[in-house]
Amino acid sequence: MQKPLIAGNWKMNMVINQGVDLVMRLRELIKGIDAVEVVIAPPFTSIHHLSHLVADSPIKLCGQNLFWEKSGAYTGEVSAEMLAAAGCRYVIVGHSERREYFKETDEAVNKKVIAALKGNLKPIICVGETLAEREKGKTLTKVRSQVKKALAGLAGSVVKDITIAYEPIWAIGTGKNATPQEAEEVHNALREHLFEMFGPDAVKDLRIVYGGSVKPDNIDDLMAQPNIDGALVGGASLKADDFARIVKFQHIA
Ligand code: 13P
Repeated sequence: MQKPLIAGNWKMNMVINQGVDLVMRLRELIKGIDAVEVVIAPPFTSIHHLSHLVADSPIKLCGQNLFWEKSGAYTGEVSAEMLAAAGCRYVIVGHSERREYFKETDEAVNKKVIAALKGNLKPIICVGETLAEREKGKTLTKVRSQVKKALAGLAGSVVKDITIAYEPIWAIGTGKNATPQEAEEVHNALREHLFEMFGPDAVKDLRIVYGGSVKPDNIDDLMAQPNIDGALVGGASLKADDFARIVKFQHIA
């Protein structure tokens, strides 16, 4: 099994100097942490600058998005190669905000996942249902379909480099997290689904992390669930103390 993954998605927050301050504080607060993989996803404009600051720390860098082509006339887009050269090891793909505001389809997510892996970036693939879908009992159908389409055409041998982030849309930025039991039910179903798709060897190292209003006061209960392998944190990752406390979650099972 891989280490748990705690990733901070800064979204469109933090100019360079603010990012530097946050990383400096975070470095101190999580010094010596080895049992958890710690990842931050700053805006593109800060990545290269921050790569020097995280070089001798446990923190790894992550892009928030990428385009699937390697280079060319695609104004405003960033390739896997560019992110890797700037210092990223991970990239978030298919976040619900990108699906909603930038109309990213499951097919686009699939192309981005393939491009990320080819470019030596580990994709963190986001899936999740709306409140209306949950209320109609469609949660598992939706997330299974998103995962299946995101991973279409991939060989089982690359699955170990993939992280799935279950982020119920109704829990993002609302302060209303899925209960540990609600999240566990979905994670368990996704793990079974991936097992059916790729077999036992491929999925033994695959991490499924939870995102949506993760905070210092709910991380311990979430991480106590057997199928929750980490967290993708939005708002609370912008505060060094809160993010550090999340990184230092306690197993209370
Ligand atoms: P919040 O933690 O702010 O709810 O955001 C979650 C998220 O979207 C992480 O990608």
